[in-house]
Amino acid sequence: MSRWMRNRGLIATLSPGSGAADKYRRLKTGIEWSCRDEGMKTIAIASAEPGEGKSTTSSNIAVAYANAGRRVLLVDTDLRSPVQHRIFELPNDAGLSTALAGRAGLDKIASRTAFANLQVVCAGPMPPNPSELLESDAMSELLAAAKSRYDIVIVDTTSMAAAADAMIVADKCDGAVLVIRRGKTKLDAVLKAKETLSSGRVKVVGAVFNRRGRWTGSPSR
Ligand SMILES: Nc1ncnc2c1ncn2[C@@H]1O[C@H](COP(=O)(O)OP(=O)(O)OP(=O)(O)O)[C@@H](O)[C@H]1O
Ligand SMILES: [Mg+2]
Repeated sequence: MSRWMRNRGLIATLSPGSGAADKYRRLKTGIEWSCRDEGMKTIAIASAEPGEGKSTTSSNIAVAYANAGRRVLLVDTDLRSPVQHRIFELPNDAGLSTALAGRAGLDKIASRTAFANLQVVCAGPMPPNPSELLESDAMSELLAAAKSRYDIVIVDTTSMAAAADAMIVADKCDGAVLVIRRGKTKLDAVLKAKETLSSGRVKVVGAVFNRRGRWTGSPSR
């Protein structure tokens, strides 16, 4: 297990008997329950502020889905400061930015991982114009292709405070989950983020209260 996997909390799902793994399984079930009637497949993991746990939550939920036998694609849309390639120890010389620049298709940029049913689209080299790329038709087409090939598509995003990127991406997804760092994020920031997401076409399907600290089963829904 890599240092990144340990540091970023993937150990939770690599140790299936742990309390944290159980919380992620329950979170997965909660998302499935919220999405059950509407056939939602693309789920953006968003947060108001940086560092609330979006990437950790995304990777762990993706593993929880894969362990349950679903075909999962995790897409790192944080083109400014991506981490999924580090978590899964994948090369990042080609990825989402490459595809959106028209230089590769989904098949070429979806990488296999140590988990049989889980593939990851890393962010790729940082482009000069992340928002423009994410807003493009190419991004909508890539998500449509992903929906047709996978059972579920988990989309890691940039924090909403940092740029418009997260809103742009979330609005192309079916559902959004808001990650809230317990005891740190201010209520008005959370409400504003929820309002911003709700003003688009995406359905906010739930919130995760995340806590930094030791891995003792942190997130709850
Ligand atoms: N539940 C948790 N328990 C312990 N550590 C956590 C937990 N959630 C996140 N962390 C740690 O907090 C840090 C920030 O988490 P993460 O990178 O997932 O946040 P983020 O919202 O994706 O940040 P950014 O806005 O920079 O993309 C990481 O070091 C991660 O390992
Ligand atoms: Mg992140």
